Amino acid sequence: MNMLFDLPPIWMAPMAGEAASAALVAAVSAGGGFGQLGAAYLSPERIAETAADIRAHTDRPFGINLFCPQAWLRDDEALDGYLARLAVWHAELGLPAPLRPERYEEDFEAQLEATIAARPAVISFAMGDPGVARVAALKAQGFKVVGTATQVSEGRMLQASGVDAVVAQGYEAGGHRGGFLGSPEGALIGTLALVPQLVDALDIPVIAAGGIADARGVAAARALGASAATVGTAFLLVDECPLSPAYRAALLAASDADSTLTRAFSGRFARGVANRVTRELDGVALPAFPQPNAASRPMRQAAAKAGQADFISLWAGQALPLNRAPGSAAALVAALHKGWRA
Ligand SMILES: Cc1cc2nc3c(=O)[nH]c(=O)nc-3n(C[C@H](O)[C@H](O)[C@H](O)COP(=O)(O)O)c2cc1C
Repeated sequence: MNMLFDLPPIWMAPMAGEAASAALVAAVSAGGGFGQLGAAYLSPERIAETAADIRAHTDRPFGINLFCPQAWLRDDEALDGYLARLAVWHAELGLPAPLRPERYEEDFEAQLEATIAARPAVISFAMGDPGVARVAALKAQGFKVVGTATQVSEGRMLQASGVDAVVAQGYEAGGHRGGFLGSPEGALIGTLALVPQLVDALDIPVIAAGGIADARGVAAARALGASAATVGTAFLLVDECPLSPAYRAALLAASDADSTLTRAFSGRFARGVANRVTRELDGVALPAFPQPNAASRPMRQAAAKAGQADFISLWAGQALPLNRAPGSAAALVAALHKGWRA
């Protein structure tokens, strides 16, 4: 059996936000998969605490994922227009009027330092190329380094930077587009088309992601030449995932056609279940990521508490309806693994 980096072939996608949970990552790794922590929105201190918490639950390896730093221009005028939109929903939720955020994102260098100190087996990146020097430094410290590509040119660039493997993130994938070349959104190529093109173009292993939710998807990924299969959305619904009840209910109710790509919550394309925010901001010009992401956070968090799915970023992929009752993380890993062996 193929064993990429001596790790199990079923990888849980790193998922920043509500699913960035030690209990979930540990349950996946303890259950025979490779759990990953989406640490993009965590402070360095939270990264350290969460990694320690994962270790308290399992001695199996896990990964940590960060977003590469984004170049963005502060645009207060556009931001104020966005805040005016948010104000209407804030009023509905009984929240005070939204304010310009005091802080837009975590300090990447400090996050990376905390990640290194946490000693995961794999450090992965999305939304950019960490570059030759950084990749070499991480590899010299014993980490496996993984990049994210949504098109072949990104895969080639990551390979030239020395990464150990590339995640091929197809159009079906839930959450943010992880690409970084061409349009700010990255390419929109389906997993079935993207994985074999990257396999052909690269000399390093390719990990398939996007739309894989059951054993059939895993078998397909392997048939396309992938060295491991990454599953995100299906893990959102396992017992150990601490999803807010409104988010969970929305995922259970959504149909295939409810899946949409939207900039509405963050300023950057991400796939989730359509709701009032995605519909009402459809086609509206927004300030660049991460400005809306920071500005909409208080609304999203309050809505999750209040049970108002219309104002939550309901990130999920196109295959959501395929596997809505996965049971425990270990049960889902076992079910997916059957596809790898098939
Ligand atoms: C809720 C959610 C959060 C995500 N957060 C991240 C993240 O922090 N970093 C990342 O590289 N990818 C992130 N992704 C994308 C996944 O890595 C992966 O590409 C995707 O989940 C695979 O498609 P699937 O959802 O159809 O399984 C996220 C996906 C979801 C659903």
